[in-house]
Amino acid sequence: MTAAITDQARLDLPGHWPAALGPQTLAGLDLPTPFLAVDLDTVVDRYTAFAAAIPGVSTFYAMKCNPSADILGTLAALGSGFEVASIGELRMLQEIGVDPAEVLYSNPIKPPAAIVEARKAGLWRFSFDSEGELHKLAQLAPGAAVYIRLRVDDSTSSFPLSRKFGAEAHEARALLLLARQLGLRPYGVTFHVGSQCGTTSAWRQAIAAAGALMAALAADGIHLEMLDLGGGFPARYVERVPSLEQIAGAIVPALDELLPYRPRLLAAEPGRHLVAESAVMVASVLGREVRAGENWLYLDIGAYHGMMETQQTVQQWRFPLWTSRTDHALVPHLPFTVTGPSCDSSDTMFYGVNLPSTVDVGDRLYIGSAGAYTLSYASHFNGFPPPEPVFVGGVAPSAHLPAARVGGS
Ligand SMILES: Cc1ncc(COP(=O)(O)O)c(C=O)c1O
Repeated sequence: MTAAITDQARLDLPGHWPAALGPQTLAGLDLPTPFLAVDLDTVVDRYTAFAAAIPGVSTFYAMKCNPSADILGTLAALGSGFEVASIGELRMLQEIGVDPAEVLYSNPIKPPAAIVEARKAGLWRFSFDSEGELHKLAQLAPGAAVYIRLRVDDSTSSFPLSRKFGAEAHEARALLLLARQLGLRPYGVTFHVGSQCGTTSAWRQAIAAAGALMAALAADGIHLEMLDLGGGFPARYVERVPSLEQIAGAIVPALDELLPYRPRLLAAEPGRHLVAESAVMVASVLGREVRAGENWLYLDIGAYHGMMETQQTVQQWRFPLWTSRTDHALVPHLPFTVTGPSCDSSDTMFYGVNLPSTVDVGDRLYIGSAGAYTLSYASHFNGFPPPEPVFVGGVAPSAHLPAARVGGS
């Protein structure tokens, strides 16, 4: 992070911080910390902008990112489909009345019992990337529609996925032919450019690979019905990322130029992009100490209580930060190491972040852009409670809301 960005961050909230969750509003919330304040109107805005940016592409929200019932309900009310990683996620959707037929099961390796239950519930589209999974699907969900996960370049993402998942381009054709032979329906192709992808060309390259596969399969008499662009659409934290408009500017012409035909369904599975910016994590300062000349802040939230992505990126990950101090933008700032409440040092979240020199026990730290991969990662490690979500704004009915809802509809 450059000094210029640091100074700016000290004086102004980033432009993407939800207006409904400004420091004064957060200071007025008399709730025990930690909690995650979520502005559902931001989710609505993100969804609407995403749907408009890439015309003709249907959204299937990757609910692993934040499975709060309010967020699911808000997106369902807007007409979003959903992508699940497990039967547990499908059950959560069923509880709020989502039709499993509108759900994609995009985890390429699934427990056998989950396949059976999902199929029985009416889910009909399953991803795969291996021969083993195809045999499993053919046996447990005969006739199901299957879409292949391609391995693509995810090297410009913050969270790569292609080492764990994805068939090589040269294997993919044979795998879809095998699917047909096994009585399954060769339905589509998908990929994931890695979460928080930093370059627009990653989508163009991946679409080119999907297009080459579609062309090869056409020669075998197989016309795919779905191209699923996966996730990876970045959210704004501190570092600069390609805008949705820039990404759409790469995807839209690529769909025109690089596919031999337009499949009936163009899909995408955004997670982070739809929800990250909607939420602020609110934590309390439990202690302030100097250790070997380093300023340490101890919070009631750490990597194990929702901020795990700070660990996954070897402390390179930056979130926009603010405090409850009324002198936040007035006093000099000092570099702090910010850690969690547990007895484990690996719950440390930030090194060298600038915070007011006055910050002390009892103050609150506001961690912006915290709506993605936080609640769903949080544990009770060391007996400390995970953050509770609270919601403002939005269009969802409140039937499934946690008790601590504030404001909004
Ligand atoms: C299959 C699949 N689709 C979509 C996503 C969502 O990715 P993102 O949050 O980067 O949009 C993920 C995330 O891991 C995923 O595994």
